Amino acid sequence: MKEVTVRAPATVSNVVCGFDCLGFAIDGPFDEVTVRRRDRPGVSITHEDAFSLPTDPEQNVAGVAVAALLAEAQVDFGVEIVIEKAIKPGSGIGSSGASSSGAVVAVNWLLDEKFPPAKLIEFAMEGERLASGSRHADNVAPCIIGGFVLVRSIDPVDVVRLDFPPLFATVIHPQIEIRTAEARAVLPELVPLAAAVKNWSNLGAFIAGLEHGDYDLIDRSLVDEIVEPARRGLIPHFEEAKAAGLAAGAIGGGISGSGPSIFMLSKTRERAEIVRTAVSEIYEPTGIPFNTYVSEIVSQGTSLR
Ligand code: HSE
Repeated sequence: MKEVTVRAPATVSNVVCGFDCLGFAIDGPFDEVTVRRRDRPGVSITHEDAFSLPTDPEQNVAGVAVAALLAEAQVDFGVEIVIEKAIKPGSGIGSSGASSSGAVVAVNWLLDEKFPPAKLIEFAMEGERLASGSRHADNVAPCIIGGFVLVRSIDPVDVVRLDFPPLFATVIHPQIEIRTAEARAVLPELVPLAAAVKNWSNLGAFIAGLEHGDYDLIDRSLVDEIVEPARRGLIPHFEEAKAAGLAAGAIGGGISGSGPSIFMLSKTRERAEIVRTAVSEIYEPTGIPFNTYVSEIVSQGTSLR
């Protein structure tokens, strides 16, 4: 194969009680990434979008991820990467993760699927390191393998694909940009033991709720006493939006990734649409432009177009 195009989906990470270790894929928006083999070694990048992202491969999340892959593959050729971005950078729905994941999955196709998913996740995390100063896989893992994913370890990469009942995500993206590095800078370095106990209790219960299709348990477990309190002030009208989503019948929700997007989970698409309307009514009078998405949580990760 000389050229491959893939679709890399947006993802919701953290999922309230799973900071840096839990995420899921949605079926839109998605980025399209095309890679072409070229004789000259190295990586070149072209963007087809309005986001002015860097094309210097050393400053681009896809560039550093693919460079890590090519170094390990020890190939004598290079690649040209064209990224058609639909996921806005700084949106909190895995924009950088989609670029780097899409690029490494596509290049892996050029190499006849030389690397397993765990290696692709490792390479894609180089993009997250560049974007945020921290390696974390809670966006790139679900982006690459799809579904609901628990990241047990990043070194070595050990991810668990979770069973989950039908779940629909409503995502509201107020159009302000929050850089992940800034959203990480507001987090506490140390966490009181009592808060940590609450979070890991909720995370365990949340996963049990997913596995058993126990929506009430999922609802009770979507609680975070560590990260959400530190970050919610970064997102205008977060509290009202979350309250409106819950009042409209969502199971629960919170900040998507490092924000500013907010996600709410519902049992049905119809309920997710009602939640979309309710949360939109919070943002409409504020004058803050916003986008909304409703998607089922999908098993499909990055796939050939
Ligand atoms: N887990 C990461 C964070 C996701 O919340 O900082 C954003 O990349």
